[in-house]
Amino acid sequence: MAILKYFPGLLASIFLLQLINCTPIKVTVHYETICPDSTRFIAEQLYPLLMKFGGVKNENLEAEFVPYGKTNVTTVDGKKEFTCQHGPDECEGNRVHGCAMKTLPAEKAIAFINCSMTLLMVKPRGRKDPECFKILEIDEESINSCVNSEEAVTMVSKYSKMERKLNPKLYYVPWILIEGKWTQKQMEDAEDDLQRLICHKLVKRGAKVEACAQYY
Ligand SMILES: *[C@@H]1O[C@H](CO)[C@@H](O)[C@H](O)[C@H]1NC(C)=O
Ligand SMILES: *[C@@H]1O[C@H](CO)[C@@H](O)[C@H](O)[C@H]1NC(C)=O
Repeated sequence: MAILKYFPGLLASIFLLQLINCTPIKVTVHYETICPDSTRFIAEQLYPLLMKFGGVKNENLEAEFVPYGKTNVTTVDGKKEFTCQHGPDECEGNRVHGCAMKTLPAEKAIAFINCSMTLLMVKPRGRKDPECFKILEIDEESINSCVNSEEAVTMVSKYSKMERKLNPKLYYVPWILIEGKWTQKQMEDAEDDLQRLICHKLVKRGAKVEACAQYY
């Protein structure tokens, strides 16, 4: 009798466990487009790791980009106004990234984010540089029309809401969550060596991942 009672629960748990094991590990990064620590994390760690794992849509690692960081929002005459840590250029850069994600296929959008972050590490105005549009054959106009639209304000307001929900509150950028959770140590480990951190988690799950071969 007891076994019958617990059997469905047991089956459900096994199923759930398998479901969990198949879900990619999600890395969420709250960042700012002109912040050097953000550019380093995205261009040198997160994007290269996504590529090593087989691209933006691979089965082991998933990335969520939230270009907002320490931005403040106020409402003036019923209109939302945003103030960014590194000034208006950064606010625009955040909208460019957001619009890329909204407008382009995921692979291209994230490649664009990598490209602009990489250029920013070598020249401070890389964000406005048309080079990334050219390299990736992106229609700059389609991004620009989004950047200056109400749609962009709605998008940035959504980021603002996501940020308000963070617990603990963001006090550093890039603010990194793994599977929706934040700890200081985990964030430091991620910035230090994201591949090691993610691979250790995948090894623990029993996942077989070629890019993690050195960690088994
Ligand atoms: C945002 O507001 C806080 C509190 O008023 C202030 O300390 C901070 O400098 C502001 N940041 C920006 C980017 O304006
Ligand atoms: C990121 O973008 C830069 C600039 O376009 C490029 O040189 C680099 O190869 C890209 N990174 C990866 C991992 O593809």
